[in-house]
Amino acid sequence: MGRISITDLKRLKGSGERIACLTAYDATFARLCDRAGVEVLLVGDSLGMVIQGGDTTLEVRLADMIYHTRSVQRGSERAIIVTDMPFMSYATPPAALGNAARLLGEGGAQVVKLEGGAWLAECVRLLCERGIPVCGHLGLTPQSIHRLGGYRVQGRAPEAAEALRRDAEALCRAGAQMLVLECIPRGLAAEITASVDIPVIGIGAGRDCDGQVLVLHDMLGVTGRSPRFSKDFLAPAGSVPGALAAYVREVKSGSFPGPEHGFD
Ligand code: KIV
Repeated sequence: MGRISITDLKRLKGSGERIACLTAYDATFARLCDRAGVEVLLVGDSLGMVIQGGDTTLEVRLADMIYHTRSVQRGSERAIIVTDMPFMSYATPPAALGNAARLLGEGGAQVVKLEGGAWLAECVRLLCERGIPVCGHLGLTPQSIHRLGGYRVQGRAPEAAEALRRDAEALCRAGAQMLVLECIPRGLAAEITASVDIPVIGIGAGRDCDGQVLVLHDMLGVTGRSPRFSKDFLAPAGSVPGALAAYVREVKSGSFPGPEHGFD
């Protein structure tokens, strides 16, 4: 059948079918997610926290991302694989190009994800011109945690909301083909999702994005401190395959996220 492509995700956006996305870091969980119908496997640099035990994502290296992407690629057959470019690996356009090429060539990623707004336009344009699909990431961007001063909702003040709208537009104009919105008010996320023609995946951004993503360990309730926008799918389901199937079902039906998982 072949893997899901960016074009397939755009088609899902067009048809109004919600996109189910989860993070994955190894072959076994990638296989289970794939079989449950998860369409996007995000090899997130959240692995710095949930796999490596760090306090932030800042210590994750390119070699780590290549290693985990390769594992996820081996374990899955259908889902599209999006991989995070780690901290400082895209600080300049030439660095971004060389490092993204390794994530695709050595890791088997299909899309690379970069955290940041309009300042990234040149990088995004260069990657797209060279045939590397890019997913932007706006809102709460964990690689900027020391500048943001904490894991907080972003875009609440009118000027901050306007800056996010402009960032989304700039990334799209530069050629980004997907967007992740993290921890922003649901109304703003809905507005941005409706204003762009690329698939928008939300996390803590309300139910009106084109799809949802959660950190796998959070939705399995195994971290001991899941964020408010997440939900433990494992406890009620009683098994990992059951939890993954419930997640896909609830994302598709629009019952997850509920109002209690979002922000105003
Ligand atoms: O690193 C990650 O897992 C992510 C998601 C939380 C969106 O970027």
